[in-house]
Amino acid sequence: MQPVNVPLGARSYAIHIGKGPLARVGQECRKLALGRRCAVISDRNVAPIYSPAVLQSLRAAGFEPHLIVVPAGETAKCLKNVQACYDQLASHRLERQSFIVALGGGVVGDLAGFVAATYLRGVAFVQMPTTLLAQVDSSVGGKVGVNLPAGKNLVGAFHQPRLVLCDLNAFGTLPEREFRAGLAEVIKYGIIYDAPFFVRLERDLGKLLRRETRCLGEVVARCCEIKTEVVGQDETESGLRAILNFGHTVGHALEAISRYGQYLHGEAIAIGQVAAARLSAAQLGLPAADVERIRLLFHQCGLPTSVRLTPAQRTKLLAAMRLDKKVSDGEIKFVLAECLGKVRWGQAVPAALLHSVVDHLSPNS
Ligand code: NAD
Ligand code: GLY
Repeated sequence: MQPVNVPLGARSYAIHIGKGPLARVGQECRKLALGRRCAVISDRNVAPIYSPAVLQSLRAAGFEPHLIVVPAGETAKCLKNVQACYDQLASHRLERQSFIVALGGGVVGDLAGFVAATYLRGVAFVQMPTTLLAQVDSSVGGKVGVNLPAGKNLVGAFHQPRLVLCDLNAFGTLPEREFRAGLAEVIKYGIIYDAPFFVRLERDLGKLLRRETRCLGEVVARCCEIKTEVVGQDETESGLRAILNFGHTVGHALEAISRYGQYLHGEAIAIGQVAAARLSAAQLGLPAADVERIRLLFHQCGLPTSVRLTPAQRTKLLAAMRLDKKVSDGEIKFVLAECLGKVRWGQAVPAALLHSVVDHLSPNS
């Protein structure tokens, strides 16, 4: 498969998608004129499976890699683990020319990318995403960061990777729930940018759920192309890039009020995208039939589309939304769909409508 190129001038890079690029990381890094010392940051689930091949490939190419293992899961994306990584980078004497390899899902990619953005005022990094969500979204585009107890991704930076290696073989060990969570970001691209792609997802869902490599490779590539087109036009989210946040205002708030423990990111944004579709129907006239197609596709992926909240939790959810990074002048700004494949960003929503949609997140309402 041809690499997808992210066109960002001096910060341009390639995304390689296929079966096996993980074991070629050393050769690929050799082409980038990086220093010899490097750190592979991975988590406790991924490191035992994939780090031996990655370390071997790096050593065979003449690099000196050090493995840093962090805990797995969303709660690991925190400043405490950033500090732990800095300490290990310093003890291994990584230098300005050294680089970091992020081997894992979006948590490792965001955390290791943030460490790379800030250690010694910035070192190079390579993304090796091992989840579907990370291959189609988080490894591309240079948003890196960690959570605060107050909210998701509240500390971060833009720091583009030098290379992204998406190995489709990694899906062979990915737990079912994690795989399905990744589909939430895949579907997002159809809603925000590419109606024919949404139709393809409706048609090929069976193949995707059976993890047929050919279909998955094409889907990962299309998602990376879309993300690349968006980021290529608006790297630092002064406008267009906001469309990638469709469903994330409610989704991030749900993650925050459940202390990042109940919902996977993909699950939270599946609920959030259904809420955003309902807001879109009320505000921009998205047809009710399309709202239902969106809900149904998430449901067929085995993703949640509703959530039972107590009145106190609803209040907390609305408060958490106000901490979202998209708030400006105290007003929450949403990405809303006019039709499948076309969205508008920066949309204010009347408080009464937002409250009503939050009330209707409950399964029986
Ligand atoms: P994750 O990184 O927590 O990975 C999911 C789980 O699967 C973890 O337990 C991990 O150890 C395990 N795992 C990963 N790959 C595996 C494999 N191949 N085999 C077996 N186990 C494997 O979660 P995620 O869904 O990849 O990423 C979610 C994070 O990504 C969130 O923090 C979200 O905010 C972030 N994100 C960032 C961006 C961005 O632009 N930076 C975009 C979307 C999401
Ligand atoms: N996932 C949102 C972004 O990369 O902008």
